[in-house]
Amino acid sequence: MGESGDQIERPDAATTAAWSRRSFTIGALALGAAGGAGWWGYRLATAGPETFDTSAITIAGTLPIPPLLEDTGEGLHLVAAASTTEFIDGVPSATWGFSQPFLGPTIRVRSGQSVPITVTNELDEAITSHWHGLHIPGNIDGGPFNLIAPGESWDLTMEIAQPASTNWYHSHVHGRTGQHVIHGLAGMFLIDDDNGDSLGLPNSYGVDDIPLIVQDRTFLADGTMYTDIGRNVFLGETVVVNGVIGAELDLQAKRNRLRLLNGANGRVFEFFFDDGSTMQKVASEGGFLNAPVEVESVRMSPGERCEIVLDLTGRAVGDQLILRSRNVNGDGGMEDAFDILRIWVTEAMLENPALPSVMNDVPVGSELLAAVDVAAERSFTLRGNAINGEEFDHDRINHATQRGAWELWTVNGGAHPFHVHGTSFLVVSQNGRDPAPEDAGWRDTINVGNGVELLMRFEHEAPPEATYMYHCHLMGHEDAGMMGQFAVVDA
Ligand code: C2O
Ligand code: CU
Ligand code: CU
Repeated sequence: MGESGDQIERPDAATTAAWSRRSFTIGALALGAAGGAGWWGYRLATAGPETFDTSAITIAGTLPIPPLLEDTGEGLHLVAAASTTEFIDGVPSATWGFSQPFLGPTIRVRSGQSVPITVTNELDEAITSHWHGLHIPGNIDGGPFNLIAPGESWDLTMEIAQPASTNWYHSHVHGRTGQHVIHGLAGMFLIDDDNGDSLGLPNSYGVDDIPLIVQDRTFLADGTMYTDIGRNVFLGETVVVNGVIGAELDLQAKRNRLRLLNGANGRVFEFFFDDGSTMQKVASEGGFLNAPVEVESVRMSPGERCEIVLDLTGRAVGDQLILRSRNVNGDGGMEDAFDILRIWVTEAMLENPALPSVMNDVPVGSELLAAVDVAAERSFTLRGNAINGEEFDHDRINHATQRGAWELWTVNGGAHPFHVHGTSFLVVSQNGRDPAPEDAGWRDTINVGNGVELLMRFEHEAPPEATYMYHCHLMGHEDAGMMGQFAVVDA
């Protein structure tokens, strides 16, 4: 790998805050051709539709921060509609979004709050709005049975009763989830609580607390976004963060919090900083870790979230670094390396609270397992497009779980991100071992690898007519049938 700095125009007195600093050419470097080059760029397709040559264009990719959507007393309203988005200057692509052309606003609520939400569907096909990570009953979970027909609205009220965490929402129509999310039907959903407020973590949204929805897309030869992905696991060759190519972000020379969401259809990312900066992982999907864990990288499958703190204390104004994703594994197209986000230090430090040393009291999975009564053990093997040999069937409820009872789920089958609705789980073991400290938080999506044991219980009801789902979060697998449904009922 070469020195990134060599090819980047750094800001100086003449160009600070000027357009030119933000303009750079995306080197569409095929993997392997990148030797010595700075910007790793974006892999061109090796198969599939003929793609746009992103190397030919200059892009100003200032990272957009999705607007916050908070309840000011009238409830929240999302409107799903079709529109266009210029990912590439001058070339409108057909996109869908929630209340904006592509993706949706960041919903922000507090634990303990009762939140009325209306979702209106102005598209010409049915959608849903699934609240991924939320501990809410099956009838408002937004899964494949909560269809919102074209022209209709869905009204629900959620009681937020879970800790501070980074969640998300997306459409979840069986067989169409991948295409709906590719079109743009996804957004972030943040929960705050008193504990989170007391920790002194950066929490100024869009300033030092940054939502990063990382996705990959393909752009066709005419520059438009490719959406016709069917029920396949899709790998795009261009990274899009919060809806833009070549994203750049200005940060202060202090600690900053990045909330990462792998919102891709099928791509695993392993994020790290090009200059060797480490990061402090502070939260997994279900909330804060017990203490910050210093890591060199974070690997994330589709559907996963995590929060990291990047310490830029002491950096000079004008410094830059790049959040990258490295080669992962080498099969299934996951060997691709990408630049994700270029970060510029553009302001001196204002205030900079220390990192907390204690953030949560998450039990150790194996200790909790020994301490509780396990009411049911279940095992799931993901293979082909099926779980335990069966593809998803609208009419078959795969099992019933007793509300409030602990269950141990053993999941096998390899590189599938397994996701469970309605709760967060603890990892008892991963590949036969205790999870690493950075993986020992509450989770709801996890790469199965060589097997995971997950301990969970459900606080809310999901009656037979409003079940929860478990599934692979590779959207192509889920759409093709790698999903089951279960009820949560009182004894
Ligand atoms: Cu993110 Cu069942 O979904
Ligand atoms: Cu979900
Ligand atoms: Cu899968």
